Amino acid sequence: MQLQNARAIVTGAASGLGQHFAVQLAAAGASVAAGDIDVKGLERLTEFTKTSAGKVWTSKLDVSQEASVTAFVKEASQNFGGINLLINDAGILRDGLLVTQEGTWTKKLPTAQWKQVLDVNLTGPYLMTREVIGEALAKGIGSSVVVNISSISHDGNPGQSNYSASKAGLDACTRTWALELAKHGVRVGAVAPGVIQTPMLRHISDEAMKSLVAGIPVGRVGHVEEVWLAVKFIIECEFFTGRVVEVDGGASF
Ligand SMILES: NC(=O)c1ccc[n+]([C@@H]2O[C@H](COP(=O)([O-])OP(=O)(O)OC[C@H]3O[C@@H](n4cnc5c(N)ncnc54)[C@H](O)[C@@H]3O)[C@@H](O)[C@H]2O)c1
Repeated sequence: MQLQNARAIVTGAASGLGQHFAVQLAAAGASVAAGDIDVKGLERLTEFTKTSAGKVWTSKLDVSQEASVTAFVKEASQNFGGINLLINDAGILRDGLLVTQEGTWTKKLPTAQWKQVLDVNLTGPYLMTREVIGEALAKGIGSSVVVNISSISHDGNPGQSNYSASKAGLDACTRTWALELAKHGVRVGAVAPGVIQTPMLRHISDEAMKSLVAGIPVGRVGHVEEVWLAVKFIIECEFFTGRVVEVDGGASF
């Protein structure tokens, strides 16, 4: 798919990677429906893209809520005459060890903290992809693309049971949906970034960041532009589907 022909939905578009993807798509002439729970961030995106070649429409979206997803997809699809590109970017971290023990004191990862991450990072892409592809097939749109934003935490990472499970699940869905939907002309790929400089890292202390960087062979964190290159490759390469591209400076957790 050529970028200028995309009628795209980008989730998590108010900040970080999602915001960059939306800006790049609009600059290339694509139509972009940008969704996020952060309405102020969406207003900033509108400001950044006001002179872009492509149209940008923004609306509040909570990917973990079915009613919000169905309403957003319906309106986006009406605005652009159908959607042929979905970037499932919205994601959250709520880190915590499964069990912590100090002396006689034991702390367990709360169930709500487990569920919150699964709801946004895994149920969100499931609902979005189901609705977007359902609409696309009903409208007879061929050649659609779905890009899921995973993470190298998909292999497991201490303190991230919930996050790692959500991203491993997303990779499994990437493969499953690619196999199920290829006959309809739908390609599904994923990008698994390593440590990327975005507001998601704001809670990481300088000390923790130093130790993270020490584990990255190229000796630095990545930038949103470098993840966009992989997303663009998945959108443009018609022979790519069902796989996860890692963009991580050679790091592994
Ligand atoms: N930054 C990194 O180092 C890194 C590494 C690997 C993977 N990722 C993944 O990249 C994606 C984007 O992360 P980022 O670094 O840009 O983070 P970010 O915090 O800057 O942006 C995430 C966006 O998702 C939005 N969001 C959260 N919950 C939502 C919901 N329920 N519905 C809709 N939007 C919601 C937030 O409001 C925010 O705008 C995430 O899926 C994340 O897991 C990030």
